[in-house]
Amino acid sequence: MRRTKIAGTGFYVPERVVTNHDLAKLMDTSDEWIRQRSGIVERRFASEDQTPADLAYEAAVRALADAGREIGEIDCILLATLSPQHEFPGTSFFLHEKLDAPEIPCMDLRAQCSGFLYALATANSFIRAGQFGRVLVVGCEVHSMGIELATRGRDVAVLFGDGAGAAVVEANDDANDPADILEIRLHAEGRHARKLWIEAPGCSLRPYRITHEMIDDGRIYPKMDGKFVFKHAVTRMPEVLLETLSAASKKLEDVDLFLFHQANLRINEYVAGQMGIAPEKCLNNIERYGNTSAAAIPILLAEARAAGRAGPGSLVAMTAFGSGFTWACALARL
Ligand code: COA
Repeated sequence: MRRTKIAGTGFYVPERVVTNHDLAKLMDTSDEWIRQRSGIVERRFASEDQTPADLAYEAAVRALADAGREIGEIDCILLATLSPQHEFPGTSFFLHEKLDAPEIPCMDLRAQCSGFLYALATANSFIRAGQFGRVLVVGCEVHSMGIELATRGRDVAVLFGDGAGAAVVEANDDANDPADILEIRLHAEGRHARKLWIEAPGCSLRPYRITHEMIDDGRIYPKMDGKFVFKHAVTRMPEVLLETLSAASKKLEDVDLFLFHQANLRINEYVAGQMGIAPEKCLNNIERYGNTSAAAIPILLAEARAAGRAGPGSLVAMTAFGSGFTWACALARL
């Protein structure tokens, strides 16, 4: 079986820092409430003139440089997002334009907070099947344009931030290089789709996919059953992590670094505690960036590599849970 590897990573977050205190000026919330429930202290919001593709571009350029590659050496672009640049075409096409890519295929993948791992699995399979040699995988979100920055939307609004992360994934034909994406497991449970979603605009809606009433009623903003999501996240993440390790014939102790989706620090602390994973084997950055959905894991991975926390040869387990519901885990030898 052809092996694959993560050859380079990069991330970008906008410069504008928005603290919990800043949000408290816009809605009835407090720094104490947000920190206590989620661990978040601040997040980044895109500037007035920054598009999702702008963020994706910065992350992609950094990942390409880290891999020592040019865009001309990429065979396909996969972009995961839930906050697209436009209804269609996908954000990947605007990234394609910005990168001045040759006529290679690109596509968007919609699997919310598990989106990067779903895209990584797709890239991995494309490469193993021999269809492509090298794929650029990007997770990118501009949540600040989609959340309701008012008391009505506070339960969701305080949790999310903007950012992008990217990875260059390629075939590893060097027998002396142990780097490999060992296993990726993906799951979904569509019956809980409405537990965390944005309803409108939507082509199932009548008489129009968007109306003034829908806007006034806030149906264009994310709605979440927070406790329900929490319960499922702390169950599904350990489940899929153990499933993935077992499929790769690895044990928890073999893993050098655990990267969990950054939705809520309390979720990650709970999961690590239940599984007996030492805190020093986990990396979190939610206190600085909030939940950046599809961008969270690639940002974390890029930061881990840049900080020397995930060097060549180390075994990294990336685990996510999100809207859909979706959950996934990837085990990679760097
Ligand atoms: N500031 C202040 N108060 C807020 C608030 C905010 N930003 N958001 C909600 N509240 C209020 C609610 O109105 C409610 O008030 P009430 O009890 O008077 O009705 C109360 O706080 C709810 O508090 P609590 O029950 O303690 O909330 P919680 O423990 O369920 O925590 C979350 C809320 C959202 C932090 C938590 O449910 C969570 O993290 N869920 C998972 C979210 C997630 O992971 N989402 C993304 C998945 S990818």
